[in-house]
Amino acid sequence: MAVDVAGLFAEREGDRYALHTRYLNEQMVRVLRTVGFDRQYQRGSGQYLYDAEGEQYLDLLSGWGVFALGRNHPAMREALKGVLDAELPNLVQLDLSALAGVLAERLLHRIPYLEKVFFANSGTETVEAALKFARAATGRPGIVYCSHAFHGLSYGALSVNGDPVFRSGFGPLLPNCVEVPFNDLDALQRALASRRMAGFIVEPIQGKGVILPHDDYLAGAIELCRQSGTLFIADEIQTGLGRTGRFLAVEHWGIEPDMVLLAKSLSGGHVPVGALATRKWIHDKVFDRMDRAVVHGSTFAKNDLAMAAGLATLDVLSSEALIENAAEKGTRLLQVFRQMAARYELVKDVRGKGLMIGVEFGMPQSLRLKASWKLLEAANTGLFCQLIVIPLLTEHKLVAQVAGHGSHTVKLLPPLIISDEDCDWIERGFDAVIRAAHRVPGAAWKLGKLLAENALAARAS
Ligand SMILES: Cc1ncc(COP(=O)(O)O)c(C=O)c1O
Repeated sequence: MAVDVAGLFAEREGDRYALHTRYLNEQMVRVLRTVGFDRQYQRGSGQYLYDAEGEQYLDLLSGWGVFALGRNHPAMREALKGVLDAELPNLVQLDLSALAGVLAERLLHRIPYLEKVFFANSGTETVEAALKFARAATGRPGIVYCSHAFHGLSYGALSVNGDPVFRSGFGPLLPNCVEVPFNDLDALQRALASRRMAGFIVEPIQGKGVILPHDDYLAGAIELCRQSGTLFIADEIQTGLGRTGRFLAVEHWGIEPDMVLLAKSLSGGHVPVGALATRKWIHDKVFDRMDRAVVHGSTFAKNDLAMAAGLATLDVLSSEALIENAAEKGTRLLQVFRQMAARYELVKDVRGKGLMIGVEFGMPQSLRLKASWKLLEAANTGLFCQLIVIPLLTEHKLVAQVAGHGSHTVKLLPPLIISDEDCDWIERGFDAVIRAAHRVPGAAWKLGKLLAENALAARAS
């Protein structure tokens, strides 16, 4: 008899914290409990999550950016069921997948200056492929990457990760990886000058902190790469597939990278998949002889469920005009947040494109607020943002995240299907929470005191 997945979930979902404490990552359980995020979601539909009480939440996190179409989109479900119902041959290995051919064709139709696709199973695996392809194509050892970059956590990707928190304890990492500050063309020029750099890997908009490039940065960077024979690798794993209001974020700056990396949303959130699109000559350097036909790859890449998820994603992005919706709703939300920045001294900056938005908080001017801010930050840098995301969840049912370790930026990465009513909901929730954070003493700073005490106690233990 088949496993009754729905029945099993219903029977055991109440045990999830106990199961994870016992068998999985206990620290994650502690984190969720400490910040009061220990909801027990029972169902996901579109941009909404539902808990045991039937309470509806608006998801501004999208599973770290995978649910561009929302959860359980009917077209995605149909496509995935279709694969199983068709009893396709799938992963014969000594055969070629028709669905992979069609997905590659459709992806390249959207990126017409590139000619080949390599499929992987996740974002980090796609990054690994890019690093290997860059070395193989150029015969050079080095990779340049940016401070604060995030490209994944496997060893190659970790070696080009610009956040010491992730790297610490795992060394030694790949040699010949050189860090440069984001948005600094002079530093990039210096790093490329040795002419030993195979690739420059960069997120067009950095996910950690939602940092935008200066207007001339990406065009300047690609020009420097061309001059020094270094390949320009655009990591669009988070920004791609409509997230920023264009199919690729690089389109905002009119550049044509040598490699474009996609993953996250391509999966529909349901079947992991990554795709590296590149130039034919680069691909040909890797797969250069018959006996090297499988020199890079992995067992599950190009599996039919993943390919179908990718095809359904591309289909829904255009049939529901989701890229246009991301652009429109993003413009609206940015305007709303900029108005808040003008009203509230704690809001320092508002950044973003499409539905990738960062709201940055910073030290206020007024004395009482400033004193409270300093106390909180002395306990733990970035703790202030918890005063925003916790009540967003508990009081306004908005699931949002802080954009990285020690960050003062709250990030919004909602499904691209959000409606005007959802934008109203976001505006109401953020406005109320930010307004409350300006009241000292008040409930927000009472929570702050508690969090600071917890942080100090954790440090002492
Ligand atoms: C820009 C970027 N690259 C790569 C990755 C790694 O993707 P994955 O978590 O699927 O390995 C991420 C994940 O957040 C990302 O944001």
